[in-house]
Amino acid sequence: MGNMTHHPAPSHRHGPGHGPGHSPHAHPEGGTRHDEHRHGHDPRHGDGHGNHHGGDTAHARLLELEATTFAPALEEALDRAATALGPAAPRHVADLGSGPGVGTLALARRFPAAQVTAVDHSPVMLDRVLAAARDAGLADRVRTAEADLDAGLPDLGPLDVVWASSSLHHVADPAALLGRLHGALAPGGLLVVVESDGMPRFLPEDAGAGRPGLEDRCREVAARAGWNAYPDWRDDLERAGFGPVDRWTRTAEGVPGRQAAHYAHLVLGRLRGALEGRLAPEDLAALDRLLDPEDPAFVGRRHDIVPRSVRTVWAARRP
Ligand SMILES: C[S@@+](CC[C@H](N)C(=O)[O-])C[C@H]1O[C@@H](n2cnc3c(N)ncnc32)[C@H](O)[C@@H]1O
Repeated sequence: MGNMTHHPAPSHRHGPGHGPGHSPHAHPEGGTRHDEHRHGHDPRHGDGHGNHHGGDTAHARLLELEATTFAPALEEALDRAATALGPAAPRHVADLGSGPGVGTLALARRFPAAQVTAVDHSPVMLDRVLAAARDAGLADRVRTAEADLDAGLPDLGPLDVVWASSSLHHVADPAALLGRLHGALAPGGLLVVVESDGMPRFLPEDAGAGRPGLEDRCREVAARAGWNAYPDWRDDLERAGFGPVDRWTRTAEGVPGRQAAHYAHLVLGRLRGALEGRLAPEDLAALDRLLDPEDPAFVGRRHDIVPRSVRTVWAARRP
């Protein structure tokens, strides 16, 4: 399961190399109802541990590919955030669990009067944020804060917008963090939480290297292992004191082509190792065919690969 060192879900408590074997049951610590969320490993995302730079680098590349593949969904969420804010120009934006910073830079572009702080516990991710900001000519408005959000919210000063994309479910005590965010946001400030519903889909409906429904079965196994699980954050937001919650769900679709095929190859490759022993042998064999460059079913060269990801966004202001 070495190929699971990549993506996020949770918990820097576990070293890389932990695959989906990390079902909630593998963790005795017990605790909040969010435990299962933070312990589930999303096969696309290893752990974002700052102490495993090789894994973080691969993870960062995947996150960049993922975020650019689904850029229209990010822009739509930014549009709605800007509309919710009205004419007020935010001065300070925080991107929590920024990863390599595709979202951080999009925030900086969308809010040109704002300083944007990328917060992550992985220094590898934060280095990528700074490099990307320099390349984009945005270095003067982007800064980073290395912090473990499990330990609370670092002191960032007053915030006008907080963005948390695919990160809130990683945090040990999301309700406590939301309470602190409410306190850190200026009155009228906006919190946006984004989550994606597990592993994206890539294949045409009836395809799966001779095993129709293969992706659905992979997703079911991953979901049962608690990967990328999150609740409807509405209740937590309201309990933390936020005003009316605007929530929407969309299927984001990538454009077929080389990038889509490459992205599918990376995700399914990580998934393959993770599902060993959890998926029927015939399905594992079908996944192997999708990943074999010699096989006609190989995803890495196909033109019918269309990445699809269902995303839910919650947006709420501090009254
Ligand atoms: C799935 S990635 C999301 C990256 C980016 N926001 C996006 O939407 O593409 C989750 C990020 O949260 C970070 N993260 C996870 N748990 C964290 C914690 N407790 N404190 C700080 N960062 C954390 C990981 O290092 C990783 O970069």
